[in-house]
Amino acid sequence: MLSLERLTVGYDSGPVIHDVSLQVAEGQIIGLIGANGAGKSTVLRTISGLVRPSSGSIRFAGQDLTKLAAHRIPQLGISHVPEGRRIFADLTVEDNLHLGAYRHGWRAVKRDFEYVYSLFPVLLERRTQRAGSLSGGEQQMLALGRALMSRPTLLLLDEPSLGLAPLIVRNVFRIIREIHARGVTVLLVEQNVNLALSCAHHAYVLQSGRVVLEGDASRLRQDSGLMSAYLGGGTQTGQAVNG
Ligand SMILES: Nc1ncnc2c1ncn2[C@@H]1O[C@H](COP(=O)(O)OP(=O)(O)OP(=O)(O)O)[C@@H](O)[C@H]1O
Ligand SMILES: [Mg+2]
Repeated sequence: MLSLERLTVGYDSGPVIHDVSLQVAEGQIIGLIGANGAGKSTVLRTISGLVRPSSGSIRFAGQDLTKLAAHRIPQLGISHVPEGRRIFADLTVEDNLHLGAYRHGWRAVKRDFEYVYSLFPVLLERRTQRAGSLSGGEQQMLALGRALMSRPTLLLLDEPSLGLAPLIVRNVFRIIREIHARGVTVLLVEQNVNLALSCAHHAYVLQSGRVVLEGDASRLRQDSGLMSAYLGGGTQTGQAVNG
């Protein structure tokens, strides 16, 4: 479905992603894990067209995304929930969701609202509330809901567990599984390794901008050397969340 081939990406200070290849098969949840600064968010930003690679390609739906303008990418069915959620604090919940809508005609938009509110009843309850007054967990739901307003086939999630209490994380991941069960493919960036591996089918480990390990998520979970070898002492291992 999505295929990154030998991608090299940098900022003014030089390359931070080196020769990364990564495959996302339709219907899967793919984990991308790594310590702080490994380049996880940069990979997602490159897929979304927010950052341009210096070499390599990104194939999706028969096109090379690196050749498209950033605004064309959501139209192909890719939706990105950025790190730190990036909701508009002064707008209402409903207005934030509206920003994620791109279908034309009020009927279609209404159906998208119904879809999102069915996944997140709490957003319906709070639809007239300022987004900035939501709890952290509710803000993550809103960021997810906004991304789903465009009915993506591929969802890019950047650290959905960040800063949330364990119980809330569990709830967010239950919803991510439900979104996946409704047919959405997911590329999941997480620093919380156990959490990512408990949710993903297959995972890639990024270290200093290179893929140093990849494999079946359940097999990687059993690899006790993984954390110390690649993920740095400061990496949050967290608890696995099942079901
Ligand atoms: N806009 C930018 N300009 C210059 N350097 C950047 C920029 N964004 C990220 N970097 C650098 O690129 C490297 C990779 O950063 P990135 O944010 O992709 O890592 P990450 O794996 O998402 O880290 P974290 O887990 O902390 O979110 C880091 O060294 C970072 O300092
Ligand atoms: Mg990041």
